[in-house]
Amino acid sequence: MRNICIIGTGHVGLITGVCLASLGNKVICVDSDKEKIEKLKREVIPIYEPNLEEMVRENIREDRISFTTSIPTGVRESEIIFISVSTPSKPNGETDLRYVEAVSTEIARSMDSYKVIVEKSTVPVKTGERIKKTIEINNPRNIEFDIVSNPEFLREGEAIHDFMHPDRIVIGVEQERAKDIMLELYRPLNVPIIVTDIKSAELIKHASNSFLALKISYINAVSQICEKVGTDIKEVAKGMGLDKRIGHDFLEAGVGYGGSCFPKDLSAFIKISHDLGYDFELLKAVQRINAMQRKKVVEKVKELLWILSGKTIGILGLSFKPNTDDMREAPSVTIINSLQKEGGRIKAYDPKAIHEAKKIIKDVEFSHNPYDLAKGCDCLVILTEWDEFKRLDLKRIKDLLNQPNIIDGRNIFEPKEMKKLGFNYKGIGR
Ligand code: NAD
Ligand code: UGA
Repeated sequence: MRNICIIGTGHVGLITGVCLASLGNKVICVDSDKEKIEKLKREVIPIYEPNLEEMVRENIREDRISFTTSIPTGVRESEIIFISVSTPSKPNGETDLRYVEAVSTEIARSMDSYKVIVEKSTVPVKTGERIKKTIEINNPRNIEFDIVSNPEFLREGEAIHDFMHPDRIVIGVEQERAKDIMLELYRPLNVPIIVTDIKSAELIKHASNSFLALKISYINAVSQICEKVGTDIKEVAKGMGLDKRIGHDFLEAGVGYGGSCFPKDLSAFIKISHDLGYDFELLKAVQRINAMQRKKVVEKVKELLWILSGKTIGILGLSFKPNTDDMREAPSVTIINSLQKEGGRIKAYDPKAIHEAKKIIKDVEFSHNPYDLAKGCDCLVILTEWDEFKRLDLKRIKDLLNQPNIIDGRNIFEPKEMKKLGFNYKGIGR
């Protein structure tokens, strides 16, 4: 059992905290957002993530997790300190590290005994060196500490599973003492652990996210060719994915990747490379293809409806992926804005993300369910592949629509069956 402090209780920090608590550690979660901490103390979970609420409750009951806004409290009572604050993009793509610097300074000023300080946030290569210097400068009593880079690979919507059963854990570390502590911490997960230097660990994270985004843009580019020659991207992806060197994962063509990480991390990796004197053209193409996929959806709506002014378009799915209420960089936002610019009236439904969507998109009529949404729409556009949508009563939907138009941005239905049901149906790359 270790005493652990997590600074930044967001999507990553809260999952890390609750999972490490479930493994038997004593965890203090810190966040500067007072409202968030007050909610968590009352067992109100600020984000939607399957099974998270039950786990937080159980760990509070067992006295394994607590919440505070005070970094000094968390640091003094813990041996391992995770930094999992936000690392957003600046307009030029560079990572904004002000929160990382702020918490590093406060950690240093609060330390009273040896600490392992773990960089969990996704940061540019060499940030570990900066954190180390910041702590040294603000550590007049010369309290011993070590820096570790331990990037996180969880996906939202499957976050707890991913944390507990990762393909690998990466630990970038230079000191034996910190290495042993980290290895012991993660031993119960019984998964491969890569121990490397800090810079390599930092690079593994950016290189992995960029590669995954590249895979998505690649299949989206192939989907464009499929449309031109009249073949089905699903068949092509299946045939490619059976090759073990390629694999089936991340070959779903669609409206492009969104979320708080791929867009930000690609921009960051391109900027880091640029600053190091390398023009990462390949990743710039990945970004262009991704933006194109969103435009294609708008073109498909126009192909079906011609003039959008005076027409009603129903958006099924707002979050950037299923099983989350996260709207950060969701494709739905850009697509809705473009449809509105063309004069389209927008109705929208999402099982979990409506309260978040209301903060970002305006002039949209939100519906209570997919059937309420379909009423009076000239076209339905599926942007998130929630399981609930796969089980829709399509005959009922068709009767409720003004015109039987469906654009399936996530290829959840089969074109032949949709045509049989009488829909004008357009998927992506098929
Ligand atoms: P988030 O915005 O959900 O959470 C970050 C939290 O940090 C917020 O609650 C914020 O209030 C808090 N914070 C900011 N400044 C603070 C300060 N000075 N003191 C205390 N708390 C502070 O972000 P996230 O999605 O959890 O991402 C965090 C990091 O993890 C990012 O670097 C991200 O790239 C990386 N990451 C995210 C995911 C994911 O799925 N979301 C996965 C892997 C890695
Ligand atoms: C992604 C990575 O998968 C995680 O490993 C990583 O930890 C995380 O970023 C991060 O660094 O934050 P996440 O963004 O939560 O996780 O979700 P993904 O499942 O990767 O989906 C990202 C986007 O790609 C979604 O918009 C999704 O719809 C899209 N996607 C994914 C596709 O369009 N096609 C696919 O085949 C897969």
